[in-house]
Amino acid sequence: MPAESPSTNTGTFTSGAGSRAPVGIFDSGLGGLSVLRAVRAQLPDEAILYVADSLYAPYGERDDDFIADRTLAIGEWLVRQGAKALVVACNTATAQSIAMVREKLPIPLVGVEPGIKPAALQSKTRVAGVLATQVTLRSARFQALLERYAADCRFLCQPGHGLVQAVERCDVGSAELRALLRGYLQPMLDAGADTLVLGCTHYPFLDTAIREIVGDRLALIDTSVAIARQLERVLDQHGLRAAPESAGTALPRFYSTGDGTHQQQLAATLLHVDATVEQVVIPSRRTVAPNSQAA
Ligand code: DGL
Repeated sequence: MPAESPSTNTGTFTSGAGSRAPVGIFDSGLGGLSVLRAVRAQLPDEAILYVADSLYAPYGERDDDFIADRTLAIGEWLVRQGAKALVVACNTATAQSIAMVREKLPIPLVGVEPGIKPAALQSKTRVAGVLATQVTLRSARFQALLERYAADCRFLCQPGHGLVQAVERCDVGSAELRALLRGYLQPMLDAGADTLVLGCTHYPFLDTAIREIVGDRLALIDTSVAIARQLERVLDQHGLRAAPESAGTALPRFYSTGDGTHQQQLAATLLHVDATVEQVVIPSRRTVAPNSQAA
């Protein structure tokens, strides 16, 4: 039976701010593991709590209020577990709710957004593709990004319907998935794109399948390393960096609102991290009962 507050977690970290407290990383599901990988490489001394809201993924099919409701509830849950900072490792949740959640949580937040700026800087053909969820693409934050950086660069924005679901079931290379990807990528190649923005944290896990289709014709823009560097800056600004080796040997703690099987599998195969995943119930205004899909 999932517990709201996992007993194994309490008391291990000092609660609230403090350099030994963990960093919370959250995504609608498994995509944030691509950010976790970069954070571990950049900040090996930080303890990490990772929450996948897999019971309610994909967020890209949800309404705005639902996404904001879940993001706030998970942020508050991580604060209760003692997180000193929160990485919203989900473009969709960032696009919809980061401003509101930032106001309500007492810890610093780092969000993620599609790498439009680096794509505009590096595209030679001045045509770039963007794969992201429908919610991200239609958000005001994304539209503002485009207005800011896309003056002389054409961005072909493609919703990646079905891709998050594939990664959630650990499908990173089936024939169906490759056919889906080809349908999204071929028009970009035909239009002369030389750059592809991976605007969803699930998509870096599809890099091999994408490479098989596009070869080296598209440079892939994945912002996870930039996010890890931003987290480093934020921790430094707030005096929250872990002392060297204070948690360096500890594995991240993984939590899921789903059953966690796929999370464990993906962490083992793609991140080479062998850790158990604890199932948790994180209630929110829109999901009072554990299995409620209330809309
Ligand atoms: N990883 C999330 C993102 O970056 C996926 C959103 C979803 O669940 O649809 O947008």
